[in-house]
Amino acid sequence: MENEIKIEIEFRNILDTDRNTQFKIRDWRNHYGVRKYLFNTNIITKEEHSNLLVSLKNNNEHLCFIAYKNNIPVGVVNTIKIDAINKQCDIGIFLNTDYFFQGLGSHIYQQFIEYVFSNLAIETINCEVLDDNISSLKLHRKTGFTEDIKRNEIIHYNNKINIHLFEISKQTWLTIRHKKNKQLSI
Ligand SMILES: CC(C)(COP(=O)(O)OP(=O)(O)OC[C@H]1O[C@@H](n2cnc3c(N)ncnc32)[C@H](O)[C@@H]1OP(=O)(O)O)[C@@H](O)C(=O)NCCC(=O)NCCS
Repeated sequence: MENEIKIEIEFRNILDTDRNTQFKIRDWRNHYGVRKYLFNTNIITKEEHSNLLVSLKNNNEHLCFIAYKNNIPVGVVNTIKIDAINKQCDIGIFLNTDYFFQGLGSHIYQQFIEYVFSNLAIETINCEVLDDNISSLKLHRKTGFTEDIKRNEIIHYNNKINIHLFEISKQTWLTIRHKKNKQLSI
């Protein structure tokens, strides 16, 4: 349709980006608005971040990409725990908080799912979300993931909270992706 404009997102492996960008994402990751929703809420030190970058070299189980919109880095997406035998992985996302709540996370996430199923030998994508992470819960539900729940699973900021287990298969994604892309068009 004429009024449908899709936001194009480009994914670049973090190892192929410049040093400045590689380290800028540490600031995004350490922002309280991001880390409060992660399983590890600690501030990541420069040294830990450097170690992460080294560990990503020749790593078949963890891939990290920077998401660019109009050539500007806006967020980070990861595939972790890539299990080549069972063809599954976990994925994660966080944005630079400057871009929160504008619909960008939904665009990036859906395009990353498309990217993973198109470029990696993956049949199932999983993601675990903390109970108080409302925007991520909404993001997964509207993207078409199935949902299960582990109650009172972890202590997070001194509270026992639930973890939501989301899963989507390649087969499901291929069936619903056109509808999802259309819903995201503006
Ligand atoms: C999760 C995240 C990627 C979402 O990105 P975003 O661009 O802010 O999200 P969107 O604007 O696409 O919104 C996603 C949904 O959440 C809703 N939402 C956004 N902010 C919200 C808020 N503060 N309260 C309630 N709902 C909210 C949106 O309305 C949208 O739902 P809808 O499509 O039904 O209207 C981003 O918030 C983020 O990086 N969070 C920190 C890291 C994180 O939690 N990662 C996921 C870990 S599993």
